[in-house]
Amino acid sequence: MPDTLLVLDFGSQYAQLIARRLREQNIFCRLLPWDAPLREHITPQVKGFVLSGGPASVYASEAPKIPAAVFESGLPILGICYGMQALTHALGGRVAPAERREYGPAHIRVTASNPLLPVGEQLVWMSHGDRIEALPPGFEALASTENAPFAAMGDPKRHYYGVQFHPEVHHTPQGSEILRRFAVDICGARPEWTPQSIIHQTIETLRRQIGDQNVLAAISGGVDSSVAAALVHRAVGNQLKAIFVDTGLLRQGEPELVVRTFRQHLGVQLTAVNAVEDFLQALKGLTDPEAKRRAIGEKFIRIFEEYAQSLGNPPFLVQGTIYPDVIESRAPDKAHAHRIKSHHNVGGLPENFDFQLVEPLRELFKDEVRAVGEALGLPAHIVWRQPFPGPGLAVRCLGEVTWERLERLRQADAIFLQELEAAGLLPHRQQASGGVSQAFAVLLPVRSVGVMGDQRTYQETIVLRAVTTEDFMTADWARLPHDILGRVANRIVNEVAGVNRVVYDITSKPPATIEWE
Ligand code: XMP
Repeated sequence: MPDTLLVLDFGSQYAQLIARRLREQNIFCRLLPWDAPLREHITPQVKGFVLSGGPASVYASEAPKIPAAVFESGLPILGICYGMQALTHALGGRVAPAERREYGPAHIRVTASNPLLPVGEQLVWMSHGDRIEALPPGFEALASTENAPFAAMGDPKRHYYGVQFHPEVHHTPQGSEILRRFAVDICGARPEWTPQSIIHQTIETLRRQIGDQNVLAAISGGVDSSVAAALVHRAVGNQLKAIFVDTGLLRQGEPELVVRTFRQHLGVQLTAVNAVEDFLQALKGLTDPEAKRRAIGEKFIRIFEEYAQSLGNPPFLVQGTIYPDVIESRAPDKAHAHRIKSHHNVGGLPENFDFQLVEPLRELFKDEVRAVGEALGLPAHIVWRQPFPGPGLAVRCLGEVTWERLERLRQADAIFLQELEAAGLLPHRQQASGGVSQAFAVLLPVRSVGVMGDQRTYQETIVLRAVTTEDFMTADWARLPHDILGRVANRIVNEVAGVNRVVYDITSKPPATIEWE
């Protein structure tokens, strides 16, 4: 295992960001709830602790406390915001409510030379009510603001540090450097967490777990399932038994791309099942979104079951679970609060199956999954694929799903994506933030009157949807240039039979969702 920092979450909305900022700098860390059973996590690789912020006041009766194991370990500690207050409180200093809540940008002045903060002024992001009134014994002040005499503190002997501001947010421009200094210079953690080392280590773990057994994987074309399967293939070669089900609900060109990538590019013995007719049959007559999702989920499980049986029911199943899923499922208050649709994922785990899960991405954030995918040689189309709902185009083809309507939708969607790609507006590494996060077409079962040449038309409507978002839980509609929208609409009406009107969706989430069903 690589050198590790443990980040203890005291209920901060930014706790994941602390972990990501460290990982971005190749420093491995784990994010744990503050009351996790810590002793089992404090291995010889652990080099220090970061204590996150949190909403509580240290004097509240139920206030989270720093576990004794943290102090007993003798390892360096960095307390951030509430973490600093908890550290102060635990070590004999004094915390009190500030006269004015401090929220927003502030300038700190660092006067004393120290290993955490460079001397001089810098811009930071503050967000706190309580503040430190008296430092605990052994600590010295490292920085101050107009409002807070102790904006940062340190005890160089024990290697304990505290900052009142948030180094993990982008509004603290030097924040990543501060976290790096703590991890590398103060804790002595080596920045060993690179895509190559992740691959190397994961392969070893997978080989130990799987031995000489067979492993099943369902490939959907999504980033996570693809990278997970590619890793397992690297580890155990043809013990990986991968299936790709063509549901007829993918976007233009995708089934061919997925099959080609896995078979030719990666050398995986992929079983491709053409189940288009089966899925159309299952969806026949259904218009209710949840009924569609259910029908697709059930059909998929049946096909998967047959495949597993044909291989003598191998004991292992690959899942593309990633680190945020693990973290979120641990925090009951945050878990899936945003899931207001049932997310039956095609390629998801059939509930009544008795598999041991193989989850090679369990420790990885999304950007790490992408970096690993690139290092494994997966093409950009897969590595940078936009999120795509498990039930696929069925939930973008409102009303009844027929082959003719799916093709209509697929063509319109392809035109929209081509034009965005040509304009450089689709998500790629260089514009991971700022560009369009997700863009697609929706087909409405709404017909309106139009005129084409001298002919009256009475045809269906395409909606264009494009959003910008950080986390897909909230989103804003993308301010696409009018001339691009115009060109897309023009092409769709001219090139796609059965569509005579195109509209642009200008609702944000909330109150709307990103998808229409
Ligand atoms: P909504 O429509 O809820 O979507 O705002 C949020 C994000 O989730 C994607 N989405 C799904 N992803 N299975 C998935 O894996 C699903 O059933 C599903 N439904 C929505 C959606 O594309 C958006 O990125």
